Amino acid sequence: MENNRRDFLKKGALLGLASVTGALFGKDKLENIQSVTEQLAAEGTTFKLPDLPYSYDALEPFIDRQTMEIHFTKHHKAYVDKLNGADLSSLNLKISDAEKCRTITEKSPAIIRNNLGGHFNHCFFWENMRPNQEGGTNLPSGKLLESITATFKSFEDFKKEFSDKALKLFGSGWCWLIIDQNKKLKIITTPNQDNPLMPVATEKGAPILALDVWEHAYYLKYQNKRVEYISNWWNLVNWQKAEELFAK
Ligand SMILES: [Fe+2]
Repeated sequence: MENNRRDFLKKGALLGLASVTGALFGKDKLENIQSVTEQLAAEGTTFKLPDLPYSYDALEPFIDRQTMEIHFTKHHKAYVDKLNGADLSSLNLKISDAEKCRTITEKSPAIIRNNLGGHFNHCFFWENMRPNQEGGTNLPSGKLLESITATFKSFEDFKKEFSDKALKLFGSGWCWLIIDQNKKLKIITTPNQDNPLMPVATEKGAPILALDVWEHAYYLKYQNKRVEYISNWWNLVNWQKAEELFAK
C-alpha cells in the first residue's frame, strides 16, 4: 500500500516536472538536462553531474581537451559537490533546476545561489555546443534566424553585439541570448553564476544561448585573449538546440 502511494506520488511529481520544463523550454527540448532532472526528482533529490554529450576532445581545435576535462570534472563538479554539501532546506528539490533558479532571491544563501547557478549554467552550456572540427559556416536557420535578423538587423550585427558584450563583461560571468519578458530577443550578461531565470538578475528571460566567459573556460589555451576564445566559440554553437529552445 505504502509502495503504491509512493509510486503514485513519484509519477505525479514527474508529470508536474515535465509540465514545468515543457512550459519553460518547449516539449521534448533540452532532453539531456530534462532527463537528468527527472532522474534526480525520481531518486529524490541530490544533484549530479550530467553526462557530457561529447568527448573532452570533441570541441578541438576551438576548445582544447584539457580545458574541457578540467572545466567539467573539476569546476562543474565543484558546483555540484558544494550544492550537495549545502543546507538545501530552502530549496524545493522536486522541481526542475530551471524552476529552482526562478526561486533565487537576494535573501537566498550565497552557497545555493552560486552553486545552483553554476550547475544549471554549465548543464546549459554543454548542451549549447556541439563538435565542429571543420569550422566554417555555422548559422541558425528558420524562425530563430528571422527573429535575430529582425531584432539585430543582421546575423553579423547580432554576432558583433553578443561578442562585444561577452568581451566587455568585467570579471567572471556569462553572456546570454534570451527571450525577455516582452517576448523579444535580447543579449544580456550576468555576473558570477547568476542567470536570467533568477529574480536577482537585472534582465530576466528564458535562455536561448549562453557563453561562459569565466577565465577557467579559456585560459589554458587562450590565456588573456578572451577575444579569440569568443571568436572561435561561434564555430561550436549548437544552433539546432537554440532553435528548439526558441520554438517553445
Ligand atoms: Fe565555467
